Amino acid sequence: MAASAPGKLILFGEHAVVFGEPALSTAVDLRTEVYARPHTEWLADGASLEDSKYRYVKAAAARAWKGGPLWFEVRSMIPTGAGLGSSAAVTVATLAAVAGLRGAPLDPPSIARTAFDVEHDVQGRASPIDTSTAAAGGALLVRPTEGADLLWTIRRDTRQWCLHRCVLPRLTLVVGNTGISAATGPLVAGVKARVDASPEDAERVKEIGQITLDGLAALRKNDLGAAGRLMDRDHALLNALGVGHPMLERLVTAARRHSYGAKLTGAGGGGSMFALTDEPEKVAADLRAAGAKAFLLATEPEGVRRLP
Ligand code: MEV
Repeated sequence: MAASAPGKLILFGEHAVVFGEPALSTAVDLRTEVYARPHTEWLADGASLEDSKYRYVKAAAARAWKGGPLWFEVRSMIPTGAGLGSSAAVTVATLAAVAGLRGAPLDPPSIARTAFDVEHDVQGRASPIDTSTAAAGGALLVRPTEGADLLWTIRRDTRQWCLHRCVLPRLTLVVGNTGISAATGPLVAGVKARVDASPEDAERVKEIGQITLDGLAALRKNDLGAAGRLMDRDHALLNALGVGHPMLERLVTAARRHSYGAKLTGAGGGGSMFALTDEPEKVAADLRAAGAKAFLLATEPEGVRRLP
């Protein structure tokens, strides 16, 4: 039994979304496939499931499979630790493959809920934006209250995240990967410590939430100039929250020569940035000259799916 799920790019609102602020993401055309079949022992790609590389696969199987041992095979186009949702995609694809072995129909809302629990088991504090984007595909707006085009609502403790389908104009996304892999859990915990200690940082988180809503309005009007300026401001706020990196600054500065705006995407601390531009080839060349792995991505409409 096999399933696949897409990676994601957060356009606005990472980190703030963990505190219940709005955020905007899109699935991207890089996918992870997970194959699962019964076997005599627990293995992934022929290696032990105890290898930390497979911690999301192991945690997903622990939540969703009560039967005997399984052999998993993971094939992924999504670079790991790059802020592009590789752990969410592998979690969602594993859950879909395992549900298939149980004979259950493909149920994206239920997969999204369990995937959020898995992410929480492995990495601690999180929002459901990555896992829900991998499950739903396309663009998603996360908000604390329910509105039109609601897909599903996910609750934990006192917070709720309402995931809404969102239609965006066609965007060419140029991504610059620093190649510096950063774990999300400690970055999220660092922002929480700052917000608890400093009212200025709590204000920054709120401002990022407002930027998401303004950024969405700008994109819908095709006002790329305004959207780019909001990306630049969002990036500055994320830096002030301590999730920047000198290499990200280098790439964002290089990209801005031919872009409306540029910002880090995902958890930061390394990982990736992206630019909004009419000249994607020029920006990709500038990013490569600055030392990045650079590539163009498109929005992926399809979320989790079973493979034949
Ligand atoms: C990571 O892709 C996005 C963060 O906002 C964490 C999360 O929402 O779980 C940094």
